[in-house]
Amino acid sequence: MKIMAYGIRDDEKPFLDQWISENTNVTVESTAELLDENTAKQAAGADGVVAYQQMPYTAKVLDTLGELGVKNLSLRNVGVDNIDVAAAKRNDIKVTNVPAYSPEAIAEFTVTQLLRLLRNTNTFDRKQAQGDLRWAPDIADELNQKTVGVYATGRIGRAAIKIYQGFGAKVIAYDIYRNPELDKQGIYVDTPQELFNQSDVISLHAPATKENFHMINENSINQMKDDVIILNPARGDLIDTDALIKALDNGKVRGAALDVYENEVGVFNNEFDNFEAIPDERLKNLMRRDNVLVSPHIAFYTKKAVRNMVYFAMNANKDLIESGTSDKLVEL
Ligand code: COI
Repeated sequence: MKIMAYGIRDDEKPFLDQWISENTNVTVESTAELLDENTAKQAAGADGVVAYQQMPYTAKVLDTLGELGVKNLSLRNVGVDNIDVAAAKRNDIKVTNVPAYSPEAIAEFTVTQLLRLLRNTNTFDRKQAQGDLRWAPDIADELNQKTVGVYATGRIGRAAIKIYQGFGAKVIAYDIYRNPELDKQGIYVDTPQELFNQSDVISLHAPATKENFHMINENSINQMKDDVIILNPARGDLIDTDALIKALDNGKVRGAALDVYENEVGVFNNEFDNFEAIPDERLKNLMRRDNVLVSPHIAFYTKKAVRNMVYFAMNANKDLIESGTSDKLVEL
């Protein structure tokens, strides 16, 4: 059995090597290159492909895999929004993902950023760098005084709720599908509007779907409390960036923590010569603000998560090849 692994980063390599040493019946070829229209041919002779990338898995890529007879594609991440579903289906390509490599990693980072915003640490860091060690006027707020509205209560949303509650915050939540345990706590509201009306902090944990595209827009921001804080560790497409910038300018939104950004592909996880060389004016507009914390999609980036992404995806691909199915099969 042979698996071709694409986009293997240096930090993933030791985990992949360990997996290989524990699965001696599998031949694994790996490359740092991403799976695209040029590299897809390298999967010739493989039974399955393991990949992670934010770049699209295009129809052409999937058609090439189909022509090569490679019908098993295992992603090392959660989101499947960059797959051309029609092309995967017409090529009979089965897709698995890793739905839970570490929901806690993302939840912990989200709450870290919220605490930084509430305690104005960005402002203090920047003041201190200028030799200004005064307190005023940057008096802080406490999380235990806040109502946090969690939008979507999948694994990551639920992990975040546990932490918010540990800090003593009041948590309310919205999801089309209610989690029975959380429902017993009575924390659900019936509509997104109720969540927006009542929350001091909106914590977004929804996938990117057609329905969710720009769900944070001028209209939904108007339904929010004044001085709301918005946290997005989920997908950039959830937020209409222009509407957010406008609401930051007019003070409706007090702050935001953005680990994702709608045009992040090709910008995040890249090095530029200096700040001005970052090729996105709206992103730089956000990054210049003390009350906006932009991070380059790193909420997931922990040793535990990276290990699990590699191990769970490799295991899923092996399962697909051996048995035709996997407990991580995605319904496309
Ligand atoms: C996902 O798993 O879908 C993520 O957003 C994290 C990714 C950057 C590895």
